[in-house]
Formats: sequence, structure tokens, C-alpha cells
Amino acid sequence: MLLTMPATVRSFAKINLGLYIGANRPDGFHELRTVYQTIALHDVIRVQVVRGSGIEIHCEDPRVPTDQSNTCYRILERAMAALKAKGRVILEIEKRLPVQGGLGGASSNAVAALVALERVLRKKLTGPQQLHLAAEVGSDLPLFLVGGTILGVGRGEEVYPLPDLPATSCVIATPEIGVSTPKAFADWDALMARGRPPADIASAGGAKLTAAGPSDRMIELGRMVSSWLSNAPAKKTSGGRLSGVPAGGRGRAETLLLDLVRTGIENDFEQVVFPQYPELRDVKRVLERAGAYYASLSGSGSALYGLFRSKAAAAKAVLRLRKEGVPAQASATLTRPQYWKGFQVSSF
Ligand code: C5P
Repeated sequence: MLLTMPATVRSFAKINLGLYIGANRPDGFHELRTVYQTIALHDVIRVQVVRGSGIEIHCEDPRVPTDQSNTCYRILERAMAALKAKGRVILEIEKRLPVQGGLGGASSNAVAALVALERVLRKKLTGPQQLHLAAEVGSDLPLFLVGGTILGVGRGEEVYPLPDLPATSCVIATPEIGVSTPKAFADWDALMARGRPPADIASAGGAKLTAAGPSDRMIELGRMVSSWLSNAPAKKTSGGRLSGVPAGGRGRAETLLLDLVRTGIENDFEQVVFPQYPELRDVKRVLERAGAYYASLSGSGSALYGLFRSKAAAAKAVLRLRKEGVPAQASATLTRPQYWKGFQVSSF
């Protein structure tokens, strides 16, 4: 028998506007510096609580585990205990986001499940309790408790809201390749052990962020991202686009972007993922050629994104990618208010 009304929520994806991998930590994780940005692409999550006990997960996508290894299971189990709630939780996941795509799908699903559960039970954890639970389940979860533009430090779980970037048209390319994040980190370690330093951004005239770099430099990164994105649409280059890769001979119009690149807006994962999957580098090039003023791998991939000046330009880029056989969708970045406004689908 139904004890409570179900809740249906949107579980939005994220992209990483730059990702810097720092030192190996004693706990086995890596120190990270990144700017997360939520986007409009989403899964749909439905939660209800009925009589009984335990957690039941339904998802038509066979790649999504429905057992205790699912991030949703892990957070729901903890949340039921923390809320001292009784009942059987039934969770349905309508999967639209890629699995292992670097868009934070599984992490976002877990946070959406937590918030939906709270709504169903009409009981709430405190903000710090929510953040703590989320961080326990995975490094990429807490960002989804904030939404919008977020600075991520520590192992990525320590999150700070940044001034929101203006809503920006983007294209998300989702090549059918699953990249394992732990393996990508291990490959990074192997690359560092071979003594190959990351691309020498310092030689472009600026200083790359270091793991030892104080957090005020990271805050500076956030401010610069904001200022860059707000200004980028007005900046025209001879080729009509800006790329995230510094190249010689560029004009002063790109100064802001280059400042950002020097400060660490590149995604370090590209250095280990692109050599293994050269087709992903090609996708980045297609995005750039299609007019993206910034294109990058998201997280450890395999999703890539491009930021565009208009919806029309993004739509054109989608067609171009699809013509090349790459699945792609036009989307938009979500500010914090947009994220939370869109979160709720219904509560009957
Ligand atoms: O926290 P999460 O479950 O997403 O991490 C998955 C794996 O990715 C970790 O077990 C670790 O191997 C790696 N990782 C890391 N450094 C981070 C985040 C994740 O090494 N900052």
C-alpha cells in the first residue's frame, strides 16, 4: 500500500570548464581543481516510498546497475538511516544521459534521488548533512546540491558556488565510448611517472595552477571564467572562433581566453584520453571548426562540449557532428536559479 505521494525530478548533467589534476593524496584520490557547470540535458528520476523495507531500482538501460553498486542505492540507504525513515524506496531512472560519459550522470541521479526522497518523506537533512552524504558516495555528487557554476576543489567534492555564468548555448557530443575515470586517473599517474610534465602552459607566458596553489588562485580562476564567458560573445577573431588551445600568433582579442588557459582552464584528462581515443580529439576539432569559442573534453570523457555564441550556431554544429557519425545534442548551460527551477517535475 502506498504510504506517500511519489516525486519526479530532473537530474541534470554537468560539464567541466577546465580540470586540473594535482597531487596524489594519501587516501588514494587526486587533488583536483575544476569549475563545474550544470547544463540542461537530464535524466528523470521518480521516487516513491511504500510499505516494507529496502531499496528497489528500475531502469530500462541495461548498463545501469540496479543493485547496491548504484550511486542512488548508496545515497538512499544512507539517507533513510539519517532521516530515521521507514519504508521501501522505489526508484525509477529514465536514462537519457550517457553512462560513463563525463557528464556526471550517475552522480546527478544520486543527488536527485536524495532530494526527491526528502520531498516524498517531507523530511529534510541539513545542508551540511546532505553535502556529507553526497561526498561519501562520490566526489562528483556535491556539485549537484549547488547547481549553476561551481568551483570544485579537494577531490572535487569540496564545492563553492561561483557567480553564475550567463546561460550559454552549447553542444554536447557523446561518442559511444565509455571512459573509466579510475583508469584515466591511473593513466595520468603513469604519464607523470614517465616524467612528462603536462603541456607547458607556463611557457605561454603565465603560471599554471599547482596543487600547492592557494585557494585564492582558484577563486581567481572562477572570476576569470566568469569574465571570459561574459565577454567572449563580443570578441571576434579573424577565424570567428576561439579555441581552448593556445597557439602562436593570435591577436589581442584572445587575451582573456589565453589568461584563462594559462590559469588552468584546460582539461588535463585530454592528455591521457586523446592519445588512447584519437577520435575524441577529432570531435573536439569538429566542434572548433563548427564555430565553438571553447571546446573541451568533459571530466574524463568521453563526452565533449563546445560553447557557442548562439542557439543557431549550436544547432548547425550538431548537424555537422551527426554528419560525421558523432551523436550530438544542442543544450544550454543552467544558472543556479534555472537549475533549481527545472529540478522539480511534479509532486502529486
Ligand atoms: O569519488 P568517485 O567515486 O567518483 O571516484 C572514483 C575513482 O576515481 C576513485 O576511486 C579514484 O580512483 C578516482 N578519483 C581520483 N581522484 C579524484 C576523484 C576520483 O583518483 N579526485
